[in-house]
Amino acid sequence: MYETLLQKAKEASGHAYAPYSKFQVGAALLAKSGKIYMGANVENSSFGVTVCAERMAFLTAIYAGERDFKAIAVSSPQKQELVPCGICLQTMQEFCTGDFVIAGETKKYLLKELLPRGFQL
Ligand code: THU
Repeated sequence: MYETLLQKAKEASGHAYAPYSKFQVGAALLAKSGKIYMGANVENSSFGVTVCAERMAFLTAIYAGERDFKAIAVSSPQKQELVPCGICLQTMQEFCTGDFVIAGETKKYLLKELLPRGFQL
């Protein structure tokens, strides 16, 4: 399961728009429905406008009506082991339990390990 997801994340990184950092990221998000949603980072000359690969995958899935998720794989040709940024972890927390799996090329983490105390309103 994670191999397929990682393969899709790798494919997705090829869709990145990253002319500033030259750091391409792809994400593949597995919903409990069985569907996979992909995302890639899209940068902007106003850097703060940049959207990460993980958030693109989540927002696409949410728009499609998904609310329950199993795992996400992340991949970059520029870095072997990638951990999502804090904003993306907070996005994951909105929709996932602590047992949501975050898979890199060689390591897997649970959301509760990477964001043990995320913001709660
Ligand atoms: N980036 C992601 O897409 N996901 C991450 O988890 C970390 C960083 C992107 C944002 C920016 O386009 C580039 O990688 C360098 O920070």
